Amino acid sequence: MIEIRNLHKSYSTGQGTVEVLKGIDLTIEQGAITAVVGPSGAGKTTLSHCISLLEKPTSGQVLVDGRNLSALSGQALRSERRAIGTIFQHSALLRRMTVAENVALPLRNLGVVHREMEDRVAELLDRVGLLHKANAYPGQLSGGQKQRVGIARALALRPRILLSDESTSGLDPESTQQILDLLDDVRTELGLSVILITHEMDVVRHVADQVAVLANGRVSEYGPIGALVADPQSGAGRQLLPVRALPLPAGFDYALSVSYRHGPVDPEWLTRLSTGLGVRVALLGGSVEAHGEAVLGRAEIGVAGRPEAEVRSYLEQLGLVADPRDPVSTAAAASTRTATAPPSEGAEREANEKIGVRA
Ligand SMILES: Nc1ncnc2c1ncn2[C@@H]1O[C@H](COP(=O)(O)OP(=O)(O)OP(=O)(O)O)[C@@H](O)[C@H]1O
Ligand SMILES: [Mg+2]
Repeated sequence: MIEIRNLHKSYSTGQGTVEVLKGIDLTIEQGAITAVVGPSGAGKTTLSHCISLLEKPTSGQVLVDGRNLSALSGQALRSERRAIGTIFQHSALLRRMTVAENVALPLRNLGVVHREMEDRVAELLDRVGLLHKANAYPGQLSGGQKQRVGIARALALRPRILLSDESTSGLDPESTQQILDLLDDVRTELGLSVILITHEMDVVRHVADQVAVLANGRVSEYGPIGALVADPQSGAGRQLLPVRALPLPAGFDYALSVSYRHGPVDPEWLTRLSTGLGVRVALLGGSVEAHGEAVLGRAEIGVAGRPEAEVRSYLEQLGLVADPRDPVSTAAAASTRTATAPPSEGAEREANEKIGVRA
């Protein structure tokens, strides 16, 4: 489990001090996948660096299984850092080493004996489905394969936490899905906590249990995906399950924005509403999907025939929450994907230095 308590991080620049993290509080349960989302510049990478101890917080604590890692330094810090495996955006593999050599690096740095290392590397590559690429060079792999090698390397020292900063950005949907399935598998099989930093709401919805939204250096929303989507007031909920609705057709009295509650919902609610209350109902837009055992759903409907309060309380009985349609809900739902530039040699070197890998 990771507990982040009142975490602050400031940087000194030529123009003075910039406060990037302004008091972050988060509890991340063991075995859960937690997504951290937020606009560019919100402080996601800074938070990730504070968690992986690449940066020292200005104040506040990061507790891993109750131990305050942010207070450590030197050998103790290096040793505790092994609890956290990091996957980088552009995999940060060393291009002059084979796949197997890349995965072996953290083990070699630790002085693991040759025979044991070979077995472990084979086991790790097998786990990510790339044993047959052991002797290939990173340049001969697809983007998704490189990321899977990055995951194998991050798992080499048997971490309890896996931290991924935009590891699926720029990948095609199929490769993204493979990476997400893999993260889900290792979380289940190894009981790891996964922290997934991403811009992509599709990614969050498919794999995360909970979401923390970072805005201006603070956590603005935090909770299980189902609860955020079910909460009509949640901006994150709207972005997670966007609804692009039609305008209210002529002949209808008003529009309602309907969210599926975090619990049982009558799947025949549209029919029931219409026949039970004797109203006309137009479906203007909506999205319903399975999320593990739960159902995520949001819809916009037009209604004619009965007063709004009566319709809303009837929907409530069917397991839905209805609110007057918010005119910005549909427009604001656009996804926030960002374009990503390819890594430079310098960026690769820097990333490798961070994880203690030397070329
Ligand atoms: N070493 C540094 N010195 C000064 N300012 C920094 C430093 N690192 C980050 N910042 C500033 O902190 C803010 C947050 O940066 P950060 O990289 O954490 O954002 P982010 O949420 O990861 O953004 P993105 O989505 O673009 O990756 C930015 O305004 C950035 O300029
Ligand atoms: Mg970032």
